This record gives sequence, C-alpha cells and structure tokens, in this order.
Amino acid sequence: MKNLVLNNISKSFGQTNVLSDISLEINQGEFFSIVGPSGCGKTTLLRIIAGLESADTGKIFIGGADSTDLPPQKRNVGIVFQNYALFPNMTVFENVAYGLSVKKTEKNIIHKKVRDVLEKVQMEHKHDKNISTLSGGEQQRVSLARVIVTEPDLILFDEPLSNLDYSLRLETRNELKRLQREAGITSVYVTHDQTEALALSDRIAVLNKGIIQQTGIPDDIYYNPENKFVADFIGHANLFGSQLCSELFQIEIDSDETLAVLPEELIPTDKSGNTSCKIIDVQFTGFSMEYSILFKDKIIRSLLPSKSLNNRFGIGEEIGLKIVSEKIRKVK
Ligand SMILES: Nc1ncnc2c1ncn2[C@@H]1O[C@H](COP(=O)(O)OP(=O)(O)OP(=O)(O)O)[C@@H](O)[C@H]1O
Ligand SMILES: [Mg+2]
Repeated sequence: MKNLVLNNISKSFGQTNVLSDISLEINQGEFFSIVGPSGCGKTTLLRIIAGLESADTGKIFIGGADSTDLPPQKRNVGIVFQNYALFPNMTVFENVAYGLSVKKTEKNIIHKKVRDVLEKVQMEHKHDKNISTLSGGEQQRVSLARVIVTEPDLILFDEPLSNLDYSLRLETRNELKRLQREAGITSVYVTHDQTEALALSDRIAVLNKGIIQQTGIPDDIYYNPENKFVADFIGHANLFGSQLCSELFQIEIDSDETLAVLPEELIPTDKSGNTSCKIIDVQFTGFSMEYSILFKDKIIRSLLPSKSLNNRFGIGEEIGLKIVSEKIRKVK
C-alpha cells in the first residue's frame, strides 16, 4: 500500500526553480531516503510534504487522502530536525509529553505512552533531566521519542544525525534504524551523506538541482547508476570518456558515453606498456588504502583493502592500471 504519493511537485522561489516535477510513491512502513548535495531542494521538499511550504504545482496524497491543501496539523506527520528543536527549559518527560498534552490527552494515558516510548529510545532513566544537561545523541533520541509518541502516519527526518560526532552518528544511526523497523512507521529521510542513505534505506531517490536523477534500492543505485551524477555522487566513481577509455584500458565506447569505474574496481599494477600512470598520493585509513593516480591531467582514485595488497606502491611510482569489474558500466 502506498503511504505517500507525490505527483509532479514543482516549486520556485522567485526566478529560481528549486524543485522540478517531482513524482514519488513511498510504501507503508518503508524507509525512503532523499539524498543530494547542499542546496538541491531536500529541505524544501520535506517542508512541502509536511505542509510548511506550498508547492506551485502538483499533488500530495498521504495515506490515500489528497493532502495538498491541508494545514500541517491536519496531516499527522512528524518531523525530526537536525537541530533537535526541543524546549530547552523543560525536562525530557515534559518535552515528549508536549504533543499529547496539546491534544488534551488524559494524564494517565500520557504518562504511560511517554514512559513506553522513552523506554524504546533508552532514555527512561533520564525522564526527569533537563534537556540542557543532555548530550547531542541523547537530545536526538528525545526528539525522535517526541515524534513517535504522537503515532504519526509518516515521519520526516531532515539530516537528523549531522550535528553528532562520527561515532555517535554511527550509534544513533543503528538505533534509529532499529526503532523505525520496530515501529514500522513510514519514513522519509533527507541527507547529503550517501553512506548514511545506503546503510539506512529500503529505497533511495537521488536529487540534484531539484530534479530526481534516479530512484531504486541501495544496491542498484550504487552498482547501476543511470547517469554521471549518480555514479559520482553515490559511488565516487572514476569517469572516463571514450578517448581515455581507449588509451588506458583498450576499451572502445561511443564518444557520447562515459565509463564509470568504482574506486574499488581499479587496481594499480606494475607498469606495463607505455601508458604512464603515476601515484601522486597514498592514504592509509586502516581498513583501506586509497591511491590517487595521475594519467595525463586526470586524477583517478583506487581504493583497496590494505591487507589484500601484495605490492604497495609509493608516491611518485609509475604504475599500470587494471579494471576488476564484472561489468563495463557505461553512463550518459
Ligand atoms: N524561503 C526561501 N526563499 C528563497 N529561496 C529559498 C527559500 N528556501 C530555500 N531556498 C533556496 O532553495 C534552494 C534549495 O534549498 P533547500 O534548503 O531545500 O536545500 P537543501 O537540499 O535542503 O540544502 P542543505 O543540504 O544545505 O540543507 C536553495 O538554493 C535555497 O537557497
Ligand atoms: Mg536542508
């Protein structure tokens, strides 16, 4: 069953076209991410779904009902923001209870629901603490609890992890995925971090300059990008035009095509023949080794598990390059 349907949504601010003809169908219980660079229109799209902004054209259906002209409070949609948006002078309990108190829910029901949801997000032990005494990760759990407690049809997440440091981001990400799975609430998650989108999502839409570039499951978006933008943004693929392709790999493609090779599909080898590639940088990050390689004026990335390397190459060394991919991935 479709929980959220967007039909041909467009939006401009003045002369600037921010969203162009966005159509999406998101299923009940699905975790759906919208990923794209800064300024591509992600927040604007979420605000339109929530009813905080109106679209110039197009329709929005939530749970089958036409919600295009409904005010935000009639949409039963929860939002989790990057900056938590909690009431700083209230306790954890009061923050989570707020939405229910506004709806004039009975006190003992509020009590039970808030306690249950705080347990789910593992914040029960801090129910009487003031928000200002909590860490960023704890505040983000409270803001998630505050949304879940109102039992929305749909939760919208706007870069909820980007204020957290790296390890807390990973921990909160796993937690969020667990909670979403347990609660089964349809979720639309906005991020510019492609790894986060790949790790969390059932499906992803890649957005650039207000236009959806591709929609699909993470595996497909990563291994079968439909265009250069998706190949670069999601997989950081190396893109080779027909000339380079022929010179480097003796692969012939049409002049309007581009070969996309993921960094982990390119292996430096001992120099052979007269194509001259040169290592210009080497970065060891523990698990992986990343080589930056120069061929003519093109910088090429190769990323390999550091343990698997028999031959390690150093900066300045001349090398050959081998593709170890199951497919020749051509994009337009
Ligand atoms: N109220 C507004 N008035 C005018 N322009 C706006 C308004 N809101 C957003 N924009 C413009 O619309 C474009 C998209 O903004 P939006 O906030 O949706 O991007 P985003 O993808 O969420 O970016 P980020 O990753 O940086 O949060 C930007 O160029 C922005 O300047
Ligand atoms: Mg934004």
